[in-house]
Amino acid sequence: MTLCMNKPYLKRKFYGRRKGKTLTKKRADLIESLLPEVTLPFEKGKPDNSIDPHSLFNKEYKEIWMEIGFGDGAHMAEQARRNPDVGFIGCEPFMNGVAGLLCEIDDDIQNIRIWPDDARDVMDALKDASLDRLFLLHPDPWPKKRHHKRRFIQDKTVEQLARLLRKGGEFRVATDDQNLCDWMLYYIEKSPHFEWTAKCADDWRTPPDDWPVTRYGEKQLAGIPVYLTFVRI
Ligand SMILES: C[S@@+](CC[C@H](N)C(=O)[O-])C[C@H]1O[C@@H](n2cnc3c(N)ncnc32)[C@H](O)[C@@H]1O
Repeated sequence: MTLCMNKPYLKRKFYGRRKGKTLTKKRADLIESLLPEVTLPFEKGKPDNSIDPHSLFNKEYKEIWMEIGFGDGAHMAEQARRNPDVGFIGCEPFMNGVAGLLCEIDDDIQNIRIWPDDARDVMDALKDASLDRLFLLHPDPWPKKRHHKRRFIQDKTVEQLARLLRKGGEFRVATDDQNLCDWMLYYIEKSPHFEWTAKCADDWRTPPDDWPVTRYGEKQLAGIPVYLTFVRI
């Protein structure tokens, strides 16, 4: 018990899938050869709140942006191509998704580092105000009430995200699930550290030009997606 209190990562669980269908040879080879080269070089829980993300890249980048749960990596890859002066950290425990992003990186991308596991490990490790932008696009909705505690957005994660984002930095969130949308707005808006930027309905109905729509955004399994931008105040 004491051990878990000192090391919260030992206690918390990731509820999603880590593996899907068998990877093609090309993708399995990329996991073997390229993933170790681009994986963030730290251990879970160590060190705590002290890593400057700029130190994780072999080049000086103007800003560091992080995506939580990048899925197949299409949004991250597109953002990384459009913003070569930004370093990107992508977190995704689903290895088939990681393999998808590796295919994109292998083509022509240098400015991405991956954490092939729970984003909360990275959130524990990074120092205060060290990120310039955060993306949480179509997080798992966990529709059953008894599973709501599995949703990524909770008081604790909002507090951590506020700790990590520099003042004026953006936190971009998307979902096509009305119930999850209400949930996330409730938790993020009650934080004194974030302000929702929308002034009219079009601001959340239409993604800005610099916001590539993801696979889940296209699928619209639960409804019409909303695009929410919050600023760290
Ligand atoms: C519904 S999918 C959306 C994927 C992608 N963002 C998109 O819009 O296409 C949610 C993703 O979040 C990932 N995820 C869930 N919990 C996570 C966590 N704690 N850390 C990092 N990724 C997580 C899942 O593995 C899954 O790939």
